[in-house]
Amino acid sequence: MAVDAWVVEGSFGLDRLVRVTRDEEPLGPGQVRLAVRAVSLNYRDLLMVQGAYDPRQPLPLVPCSDACCEVVACGAGVTRWRVGDRVIPAFAQAWTDGVPSRAAIRTTLGGPRQGTLRTGLVLDEAGLVRAPDHLDDVACATLPCAGVTAWRALAVEAGVGPGDTVLTLGTGGVSLFALQIGRMLGARVLVTSSDDAKRARVEAMGAFATRNYRDDPGWGRWAREAAGGDGVDAVVELGGAGTLDQSLRAVRPGGTIALIGVLDGVKTELAVTRILMHGVRVQGVLVGSRADLEALVRALEAHPDVCPVVDHVVPFDRADQAFADLARQRHLGKIVVQMPG
Ligand SMILES: NC(=O)c1ccc[n+]([C@@H]2O[C@H](COP(=O)([O-])OP(=O)(O)OC[C@H]3O[C@@H](n4cnc5c(N)ncnc54)[C@H](OP(=O)(O)O)[C@@H]3O)[C@@H](O)[C@H]2O)c1
Repeated sequence: MAVDAWVVEGSFGLDRLVRVTRDEEPLGPGQVRLAVRAVSLNYRDLLMVQGAYDPRQPLPLVPCSDACCEVVACGAGVTRWRVGDRVIPAFAQAWTDGVPSRAAIRTTLGGPRQGTLRTGLVLDEAGLVRAPDHLDDVACATLPCAGVTAWRALAVEAGVGPGDTVLTLGTGGVSLFALQIGRMLGARVLVTSSDDAKRARVEAMGAFATRNYRDDPGWGRWAREAAGGDGVDAVVELGGAGTLDQSLRAVRPGGTIALIGVLDGVKTELAVTRILMHGVRVQGVLVGSRADLEALVRALEAHPDVCPVVDHVVPFDRADQAFADLARQRHLGKIVVQMPG
């Protein structure tokens, strides 16, 4: 059967994202053939399509890493899955657990490996996780990148627990998961946003306090005081170069900054004394392993009231529109592409 796909072809750019039809891939031993049901977009996918994530990425490239799929055929020797199972691909296909090797880091979908924005694909059986039954395809598709990143930052790296205070930046995909997961772990969650309407919405979702980071460029001090004076226990640092200094002002001595995003740049001048004098742990996070995705699925099953926040769903034949929507940054939570049927 033919597979419909969106690919970046020729050169990078949103205008180089085109729809193509291809023959389906061969199914090897230990592999499963998947019908893709929904794909969620991440900021990384936008950077990848624009050529800003890895300008050396060979083209053509099928973008995106996130999906919810159904197993439609199993290759010889497959033991983990059966036809009809609903599965989610792990972001880095060969990163099972612990700390990744350099080789495992090179197995991420949507660059360097071909991604998920297509109607069908073939993956190794080991690169998949069971989708939770209580969440629909659209919600499950949001978990592999944004969901796992927030989970790894807070539950694994920062060890957030009851009574802690977490600060998360903005109201995009990772940040909204950080709000939900932080609360799930028993923490109070502070959120910054440039949009007062979005602030009101996240307050209604349980944010402990919010601040407009455009109106208050010194929001680090606000967060420190909102946490009780010493500072927050963990920061989900999504801005990068432009926000790290304020995050360092917000975090308590001995606290953790999970360095995740580059929404506000990649290079900056920084006074490192704040890190050493306060014993701050600045921890880089690259999404997470298959074990992290499995742990997130279990946590969501234990909290069935928590549903990923999806801003809107776009049909597969308008996936280029979904990228344009992501670039506009008006969304709250996730933008998801859904396959027909
Ligand atoms: N390292 C990893 O493993 C990993 C994994 C996932 C994502 N990321 C990175 O994390 C970042 C967020 O990804 P995402 O997919 O969640 O993005 P997203 O959904 O596109 O998030 C967009 C939101 O971020 C907020 N924002 C933009 N500039 C900001 C700034 N200067 N300060 C604070 N907030 C700002 C805005 O919120 P408001 O409209 O409310 O202001 C915006 O709506 C990206 O840089 C992405 O590449 C890294």
